[in-house]
Amino acid sequence: MIKFKLLLVGSLVAIGAMALLASSINEKEKERVELNKAPSNAGIVGKEKSEEWAKYYPREYDSWKKTKEGIELTDVLAKDTQLPVLWAGYGFAKDYNKPRGHFYALQDNINSLRTGAPTDAKSGPMPTACWTCKSPDVPRLIEEDGELEYFTGKWAKYGNQVVNSIGCANCHDDKTAQLQVRVPHLDRGLKAAGLKTFEESTHQEKRSLVCAQCHVEYYFQKTPWKDAKGVDKTAGVVTLPWANGTSVEGMEKYYDDIKFSDWTHKISKTPMIKAQHPGYELWRTGIHGQKGVSCADCHMPYVQEGSVKYSNHQVGNPLEQMDKSCMNCHRESEAKLKDIVAQKLVRKEFLNKIAMDNLGKAHLETGKAMELGASDAELADIRTNLRHGQFRWDMAVASHGSFFHAPEETLRLLASANEQAQQARIKLVKVLAKYGAMDYVAPDFDTKEKAQKLAGVNLEALAAEKMKFKQTLEQEWKKEAIAKGRLNASSYEGADTINDGKSSWNKK
Ligand code: HEC
Ligand code: HEC
Ligand code: HEC
Ligand code: HEC
Repeated sequence: MIKFKLLLVGSLVAIGAMALLASSINEKEKERVELNKAPSNAGIVGKEKSEEWAKYYPREYDSWKKTKEGIELTDVLAKDTQLPVLWAGYGFAKDYNKPRGHFYALQDNINSLRTGAPTDAKSGPMPTACWTCKSPDVPRLIEEDGELEYFTGKWAKYGNQVVNSIGCANCHDDKTAQLQVRVPHLDRGLKAAGLKTFEESTHQEKRSLVCAQCHVEYYFQKTPWKDAKGVDKTAGVVTLPWANGTSVEGMEKYYDDIKFSDWTHKISKTPMIKAQHPGYELWRTGIHGQKGVSCADCHMPYVQEGSVKYSNHQVGNPLEQMDKSCMNCHRESEAKLKDIVAQKLVRKEFLNKIAMDNLGKAHLETGKAMELGASDAELADIRTNLRHGQFRWDMAVASHGSFFHAPEETLRLLASANEQAQQARIKLVKVLAKYGAMDYVAPDFDTKEKAQKLAGVNLEALAAEKMKFKQTLEQEWKKEAIAKGRLNASSYEGADTINDGKSSWNKK
């Protein structure tokens, strides 16, 4: 009897184990089928809508969608109150937030006070080029309309066309899922710098180059052209200033040689260059870049799910998953490594603050000298110091994460920025003395309000116009895009955080 019972229990266990095994085989088979469900030769209809990729690549899609997490919006102008003074006369003095997930990229651009409040396709402060690093609809438009037409006109021209935030079709071919670069400016830049094009690069290099479509320094190059009807037009083509290489000095020389400026500083009348987000260039100078560690190695580490290994598409802060992002290569404890990274940020912030203070004061002192009658000739050298100092500072800080990607280069640039600002200020003491203002002390800019006042920014008026735009033209854009099948209404749910008080200008 006991024997029989044992036998029974034994077979039950065996049956249970076999069922488990079978279900695990079934599970693997399902995964295999799923993984092979690639759209192969047909491609994906409506590939700009990332949801269309979900049925073929559910894991990549689900993790990509998680870039929606972490919705906090940090108002950098309130944190670093020098910024409105440094950017006086330029859009960034109005509104500037810390970058957040790719899910928000497009709506954050629409909500920014920088893109203004257009009332039709032809109004507003920004050119079409401002959409370029926000959406897979951009490569589509470049293919459909031609690059020069795409880069011609006002930002609002494409409000009903550029409607999906950064997604699959920005980085992948829809037939093979291979990595792909879909904007022409990157290869042109690489060639100008004497570097390999995307196609010539190794697979490992491509794992960074897809990010370099957007996380690079660029400017809008004025390009006259004639359309099919012979009408003269001018395009502002996104161009990487890499003809002298990707070093900051190389780019600065490039801009100086063509006498380029993004804007004239409102207070000091200096012809300024705004750095964009030269993440790729700075990363190249750091130890990880030098050793061939790619952006994707840290920001998109592999995840093992059963027998399936895939890349985590929740591009975000690698320090939140150090076991996957760092510990494959590093042997110290996570806590120790995190502490080392934290020290790097403290060092950068130390020099960053000194640089911002000095640059801000130098702009205001130059403004005072002008008010007292100093001539452009007297201020020429000072303005060159300001132009170079601020560009070097900006390259170090606008390259987000540079304190970690390239700590030595970041500190070198900030030191150089400080030196330029100090040079300007030493010269300014003399000029101010000559005009009888030896004891001049620049006004405070220790709150965002004070700094924006000095920069001549009327936040309330800008916010009111923006709100009106959001209730009118923006609604029409979305309606039309949905009606034409370019946008799935559900895909941007939760992206517009303005009404949640998640905004620097519509606080609740
Ligand atoms: C099509 C342009 C584009 C591409 C390609 C792109 N990015 Fe971004 N990325 C952006 C923009 C724009 C933002 C800022 C979004 C915002 O703040 O709304 C951003 C934000 C980020 C952030 C901040 C996220 C956070 O949660 O703080 C990281 C990190 C990042 N990108 C890394 C990468 C990496 C790594 C790659 C390549 C695998 C890449 N990006 C490719 C445009 C791009
Ligand atoms: C910012 C660029 C970027 C975006 C956006 C992006 N991917 Fe990827 N994807 C990558 C990189 C980098 C890899 C790693 C490729 C490699 O090493 O072969 C990758 C890998 C993949 C792979 C190969 C298997 C794997 O997981 O490693 C698939 C399939 C894939 N992505 C699908 C998608 C889908 C679907 C979307 C949209 C929901 C998407 N990707 C969005 C950059 C991107
Ligand atoms: C060795 C790992 C590693 C590599 C390689 C790497 N990053 Fe990072 N990245 C980090 C870490 C760590 C941070 C800092 C996160 C923090 O503390 O905010 C960061 C920060 C960033 C940020 C700023 C995020 C924010 O919210 O401020 C961006 C954008 C970014 N990286 C993009 C890139 C791009 C683009 C590349 C390739 C050109 C790259 N990273 C290569 C680890 C890496
Ligand atoms: C693919 C391998 C790889 C990955 C992934 C990687 N590292 Fe590294 N890391 C290296 C190498 C190689 C060096 C150079 C030092 C050496 O050769 O011993 C290095 C150096 C460092 C250093 C010292 C250099 C400096 O800049 O001061 C720090 C700190 C560091 N890594 C942190 C991180 C963190 C944090 C992560 C994850 C976000 C990370 N690493 C991910 C390979 C990697």
